[in-house]
Amino acid sequence: HPSNHQMEESSILRRASCRAKGGAPGFKVAILGAAGGIGQPLAVLMKMNPLVSVLHLYDVVNSPGVTADVSHMDTGAVVRGFLGQQQLEGALTGMDIVIIPAGIPRKPGMTRDDLFKINAGIVRTLCEGIAKCCPNALVNLISNPVNSTVPIAAEVFKKAGTYDPKRLLGVTMLDVVRANTFVAEVLGLDPREVDVPVVGGHSGVTILPLLSQVKPPCSFTPEETEYLTNRIQNGGTEVVEAKAGTGSATLSMAYAAAKFADACLRGLRGDAGVVECSFVASQVTELPFFASKVRLGRTGAEEIYQLGPLNEYERVGLEKAKKELAGSIHKGVSFIRA
Ligand code: NAD
Ligand code: LMR
Repeated sequence: HPSNHQMEESSILRRASCRAKGGAPGFKVAILGAAGGIGQPLAVLMKMNPLVSVLHLYDVVNSPGVTADVSHMDTGAVVRGFLGQQQLEGALTGMDIVIIPAGIPRKPGMTRDDLFKINAGIVRTLCEGIAKCCPNALVNLISNPVNSTVPIAAEVFKKAGTYDPKRLLGVTMLDVVRANTFVAEVLGLDPREVDVPVVGGHSGVTILPLLSQVKPPCSFTPEETEYLTNRIQNGGTEVVEAKAGTGSATLSMAYAAAKFADACLRGLRGDAGVVECSFVASQVTELPFFASKVRLGRTGAEEIYQLGPLNEYERVGLEKAKKELAGSIHKGVSFIRA
């Protein structure tokens, strides 16, 4: 009997020839940390994305089971599993987008920065692999603390001579997803109608929702502004406490990561006007990295938008955000340079 592997290879060849005849384009996506709390539901959502033709699921544990399971879904993407460091090259070679939710999550009482010790090294190793095997891939970095792991990734790529700031994207989409939800609740609207820019970074006071720029245009009382800003800044902690030691946001994060990756894929395809918030190398403030709206195109973050007019409350928030961000960025950069 032919093996699953032989059948899969022939299926890929047939699909490639279908594409050559003008069939739908497809992109190759890898998830690193695919057996985790985020990784598993994210694998399901990416397997459902019609823009994905090949889905690589990499982890240091349990990826064969997740791969067998997800591969039975009757959607287009071919799924392949990779287990352990010695299979990292295979997981990464040829990828268009690499999504990284690898690393430990918070427990109650911890800050995201408490994850630095372990996650910094994980992100370094994975990014060294990317530099070697798929230096042109877009990287969607989820592992915390994002405010430091993105600078770490940038330094690894610089060292390897492969750094392109347009292709390194810190995922802050969950902050936007939460902001849309909480603002919609206050306004009595469907969250799908609401668009809240969230800028700065992804931790505590560095998460800066711009409530003065909400669409559709609206206004908030000072109490509403205070309530919404705090709830958005502490959304992660709200979930960590509710999960009581078993982890942090995984399901809403998988949703947010899939939404962000889909925007990246539409950008790669050449769609016009794809704009999302992301933590990227930036000249919007004096800091080397900052989250703001970016336009996603064929080469990644092709345009980074200015913050626009801020009110007094937001200007004060911006100063606090920048102070904390500066330290987190420095910590990430020093981890590689030292
Ligand atoms: P988890 O522990 O459930 O899963 C993490 C997975 O990473 C595990 O399967 C683990 O085996 C794997 N892993 C560990 N080391 C690895 C390595 N060297 N290579 C590949 N895989 C490795 O954790 P989770 O809940 O999925 O969270 C993952 C990370 O995402 C955490 O750091 C968390 O803080 C972060 N997070 C970020 C956001 C955000 O908005 N950016 C939101 C939620 C969680
Ligand atoms: C989140 O915002 O949910 C994540 O960053 C996980 C966490 O530790 O809060």
